Amino acid sequence: MTVTIERNSDIAVIAIDNPPVNALSHAVRQDLWNAAETLDTDPSVRAVVLICEGRTFIAGADVNEFGKPPMPPHLPDLVARIETATKPWIAAIHGSALGGGLEVALGCRFRVAVPSASVGLPEVLLGIVPGAGGSVRLPRLIGPALATEMVTTGTSVAAPKARSQGLIDAVVEGDLEKGAIDFARAAADQSLPLPLRQRSVPVVDPSFWETTSKAVASRAKREDAPLRALACVRKAAEADFDTAMAFERQTFLELRGSPQAAALRHVFFAERSAPRPPELAGIEPRPIRSAAVIGGGTMGAGIAAALRDAGLPVTLVERDEVAVERGLSNLRSIFESSVKRGRITFETAAERLSGIIGTTDYGLLARTDIVIEAVFEDLDVKREVFGKLSTACHCDAVLATNTSYLDPEQIAAGIKHPERFVGLHFFSPAHVMKLLEIVPTAQTTPATLATGFALARMLKKIPVRAGICNGFIGNRILKVTRAQAERLLLSGATPQAVDTAMRAFGLPMGPFEAQDLGGLDIAAFQRRAARARGETPFAPIADRLCTLERFGQKSGGGWYDYAKGERTPQPSEIVASIIAEEARETSQQEWDEARIIDCIALPMVNEAAKILHEKVALRAGDIDLVEIHGYGFPRWRGGLMHYAEERGLAGVVAALETLAAEDLAEPPSDLLRRSAEGGRFVSRD
Ligand code: 3HC
Ligand code: NAI
Repeated sequence: MTVTIERNSDIAVIAIDNPPVNALSHAVRQDLWNAAETLDTDPSVRAVVLICEGRTFIAGADVNEFGKPPMPPHLPDLVARIETATKPWIAAIHGSALGGGLEVALGCRFRVAVPSASVGLPEVLLGIVPGAGGSVRLPRLIGPALATEMVTTGTSVAAPKARSQGLIDAVVEGDLEKGAIDFARAAADQSLPLPLRQRSVPVVDPSFWETTSKAVASRAKREDAPLRALACVRKAAEADFDTAMAFERQTFLELRGSPQAAALRHVFFAERSAPRPPELAGIEPRPIRSAAVIGGGTMGAGIAAALRDAGLPVTLVERDEVAVERGLSNLRSIFESSVKRGRITFETAAERLSGIIGTTDYGLLARTDIVIEAVFEDLDVKREVFGKLSTACHCDAVLATNTSYLDPEQIAAGIKHPERFVGLHFFSPAHVMKLLEIVPTAQTTPATLATGFALARMLKKIPVRAGICNGFIGNRILKVTRAQAERLLLSGATPQAVDTAMRAFGLPMGPFEAQDLGGLDIAAFQRRAARARGETPFAPIADRLCTLERFGQKSGGGWYDYAKGERTPQPSEIVASIIAEEARETSQQEWDEARIIDCIALPMVNEAAKILHEKVALRAGDIDLVEIHGYGFPRWRGGLMHYAEERGLAGVVAALETLAAEDLAEPPSDLLRRSAEGGRFVSRD
């Protein structure tokens, strides 16, 4: 870490170099404080430019220091020190000025930025509010409405827009340092604007706070920080500067130690380490310049869209001309819907579509770098496809399967160069869902695996390495979720009660509503295959519903009834009578929300512990990412494993033992019991 001061005649340039993102560690704060002291008393300096080396301006407070005792100089004091410096400071921004980084920039008298820069206060995404005056100074600069939007959502604003809002003073085309020095020299010749602490907040209509409060609460769902952030901006508008600063600091300190902030920090670091697993350090991925998808159905079209969104040319291979047309039409619908939602322009959609070739000819794949198969979930069909790919593609091309449940080893059996084969399990809709399970076989080389991770980075997905087992990580846990949900029905709970409880826990949907939305037929197909293998999957009620062709919303009824054209679930008498029949020999209980949640979530934890034990997942944090990004597990709970650890693993074991004694769950696994002794999940070795 270095903070250097150089002179350009009468302008001092302070450069921070604290890789990777110039976070405001204690040492950086101290050096900036010292620089302010030095430059204040140097008569040859008329203005100060604050600039950063590396990929970005200051990206915020150092999140690694959050769990530790804070050391002076504290960030609010540093920002105040810069703001009250005797010479004007000019923040020269490239990359992102985030959180504490933007707060430092707000302490500067001016802000200039390159066009590609962005600025934001993402603290709410970490379960906190700005802690160094962001919520107090920003409304003084851009008004309470725009400040509220930024502070309560955590979204960043690009430099040109920030310029139009008055958040930055100039966009610098060309060399940033030179542009900032020129700006500083011109500014030093003119009368200076008041520092933000001396400005007032523009007045808003009193109804603004009530209306905004409702909107923020509904968006935030169960997260605390957004409403607390709104309260900070409101205080800034209604109280004097010092009172508002004290209020913000108090809120920041309270939230920083909260369970939600700890959970969101955990997810922050898990997400950042996921794309670069330590076991692949130094392994070069193969180049990915072109891609192909085999099968243009639900998944294939979504995967092809994701590949195009990342700028790759895509060849879509289908089994006949009619299917080619259907696949291309699926893609067209995806891009049209993105245009309707305002995500991309009509022109971009046209450009994305023009980068796709639809064909039945495997000969076109001779030079393709990566091929992803998404044909029917049938071993013979998939093996036939890989037989063709094996000869059509060059021997360095990565060949991937999107299978949900089949064994990738069996799919790859007999192909030429099996070291280039890997499972890439996308989630539906594949162009939207962030999770990508990456499943190597015994023969997959590290370079092929690294290519899977490189592809995930290109597609902006969260990659998680998974071992081979039925359902990999996510769907294996999902099977437990569903089986437990049915156990509850047999023991006296209703589908509505179960769904309501799981929503209250923080899931976007309960297990029955979710099945009705996705369709019950896919899981029924899996169960048939499992029974053919001699397994005994547990779904007594779902099996009966499928016999009646109650497949969910698409057939007008599933776990619930649906009025024609409606998506609102209505309790179903037919389902109630099937449950009553199936539950004849099971003792009935009263279920409250907390016990329903335990009866579903804790067996999921137990299964996850087995997954860790078997090394199907390498890290507990990976399972958290799978649950959050594949299944909507509440982020503010930190994922399934973090939730269990925070709740206390000993308590989880005890609750599972009680459930097991009543035949409502399997007993706690060995790894769970052993982990409970230390309070944290341990992998097997
Ligand atoms: N503190 C500590 N480390 C951080 C960090 C931070 N604020 N932000 C990023 N890092 C680390 C990451 O953990 C990662 O470490 P690794 O290489 O060891 O895994 C490394 O920096 C690179 O991060 P990314 O992989 O995310 O790099 P990108 O180039 O893709 O993105 C970024 C850069 C846009 C800056 C992104 O890292 C980011 O959004 N960071 C979070 C910024 C943030 O939330 N700031 C607010 C902090 S809270 C605050 O400031 C409180 C204040 O109000 C008092
Ligand atoms: P789908 O039935 O919507 O699409 C399959 C497509 O494959 C069809 O368009 C079909 O014409 C094509 N196809 C079949 N045989 C072919 C062949 N020999 N050559 C070329 N194309 C051929 O199926 P879906 O849902 O897209 O599933 C595809 C794969 O993705 C399956 O392995 C499934 O398990 C997996 N998957 C599905 C998910 C889902 O939610 N639907 C989620 C994750 C994985």
